[in-house]
Amino acid sequence: MLSWLVLAPLTAVCAAALQQSADYASKYDGVRVLRVPGAVDALVNSYGLTRWDTRGTHIDVQVPASVYDDFMNAVATLGANATQTMDVMVMHEDLGASIREESAGMLDYKRPEESEEGLVGLVSESWFLNYHSYADHLQYLDDLVATYPDNAAVFTSGTSLQGNPITGINLYGSGGSGSAPAVVIHGTVHAREWIAAMVSEGFAYSLLANYTAGDEEAISYLESYDIYIIPNVNPDGFIYSQEEERMWRKTRDPPPSGSTCYGVDINRNWAHASWGQARGASTDPCAEDYKGASAGSTAEVKGLAAFIDEIANSTAGGKMYMDVHSYSQLFMSAYGWTCTQAAANAAELNSLTAGFADALADVYGTRYDSGPICQTIYPVSGDSVDYAYDNAGIPYSFTPELRDTGRNGFVLPASQILPSVIETYAGLKYLLANMD
Ligand SMILES: *[C@@H]1O[C@H](CO)[C@@H](O)[C@H](O)[C@H]1NC(C)=O
Ligand SMILES: *[C@@H]1O[C@H](CO)[C@@H](O)[C@H](O)[C@H]1NC(C)=O
Ligand SMILES: *[C@@H]1O[C@H](CO)[C@@H](O)[C@H](O)[C@H]1NC(C)=O
Repeated sequence: MLSWLVLAPLTAVCAAALQQSADYASKYDGVRVLRVPGAVDALVNSYGLTRWDTRGTHIDVQVPASVYDDFMNAVATLGANATQTMDVMVMHEDLGASIREESAGMLDYKRPEESEEGLVGLVSESWFLNYHSYADHLQYLDDLVATYPDNAAVFTSGTSLQGNPITGINLYGSGGSGSAPAVVIHGTVHAREWIAAMVSEGFAYSLLANYTAGDEEAISYLESYDIYIIPNVNPDGFIYSQEEERMWRKTRDPPPSGSTCYGVDINRNWAHASWGQARGASTDPCAEDYKGASAGSTAEVKGLAAFIDEIANSTAGGKMYMDVHSYSQLFMSAYGWTCTQAAANAAELNSLTAGFADALADVYGTRYDSGPICQTIYPVSGDSVDYAYDNAGIPYSFTPELRDTGRNGFVLPASQILPSVIETYAGLKYLLANMD
């Protein structure tokens, strides 16, 4: 008891409360998440099921208890004639239970309390033991700056539709902000990909902590690059995914006339020349990959594009761009819009993406596949990586799909956050050491 009283003041500051709706997790009770063969695509549509991922080979899909038996019978019936095997894998037996478990520790986080020396030495890896509310994410960036005031500052890149500043952290060496070529890293474009915010913050924490500890590699990276990390580029969607619908992906743009569906896919809305093409995005406002009413129409893309353009036009210029997603364990580069036209520096990009995957695997054996987006996952148009590469002229333009390969998908247990941070930092270090 005595020791508790002595320790309590150090950890007294509580995490910011979440405003979760009463049925936040229970609306997913009994919902299964299944990996079904790609051959049942039309069936998934006819049941109106929510998709997590769609490939030629498989579709990851939510199946409510009320239609489960019918749906499985229909899959089996199709299977009777199919050439492809109709194996079905269970990702989540009860999504509601998985969501409760994922969020269980979210409010346990205790901010370090400032001493007379400020926060120096107090921000630690414990942040990476749980997922966090949006308010706590913003506080964490402030806490990082308070802990490492000589090498970090908070910045914003525009404002979301609902007025949330799109907030990031700028890391730099002894030359100060803006004195070296820029590296820009975005996370959680798709709201439900919570691990992306944590890994983006992990890059910031790892670089600052190692730089300050005198690690020669981290010192050389911060002396060579001006690094901008925005863990949550879709704050409206992220807050909605934490308070209303865990599986929300898009912005919260209101439905266009004639539709009742909210949201635009930020990663199909960039004003790259491919925005108008038929392949790699949807014109249906209800689709998860809806590209929006016009190229660059969303508030979020407007702010981010202006920021990237400014970086690209700065004296030091833009060196690397990375848009962090989950899941599938992939590390990819330009292009997304075409599978036939290679990027001008494709050989170099392929070598860097393969090197990232090998460096990451060296830590815990986690395997990532690598290559250009279009060949590695599927065609995407109006995407951020192609915009950063072609429009802003940033030569090293990448996108990871983080853990896992589908056992848990978007609802990745909190116990996998810290290992994801540590292994992905090894990949980032490979890039920073090997870009020309
Ligand atoms: C399976 O193939 C047979 C013979 O071609 C056809 O009559 C039947 O309708 C098919 N069943 C399904 C579910 O496609
Ligand atoms: C350097 O970063 C790694 C990866 O996050 C971390 O595990 C390690 O503790 C850091 N080292 C220091 C001295 O902070
Ligand atoms: C650089 O700035 C010029 C004008 O100031 C603008 O026309 C151009 O689009 C900018 N380039 C990028 C990559 O933003």
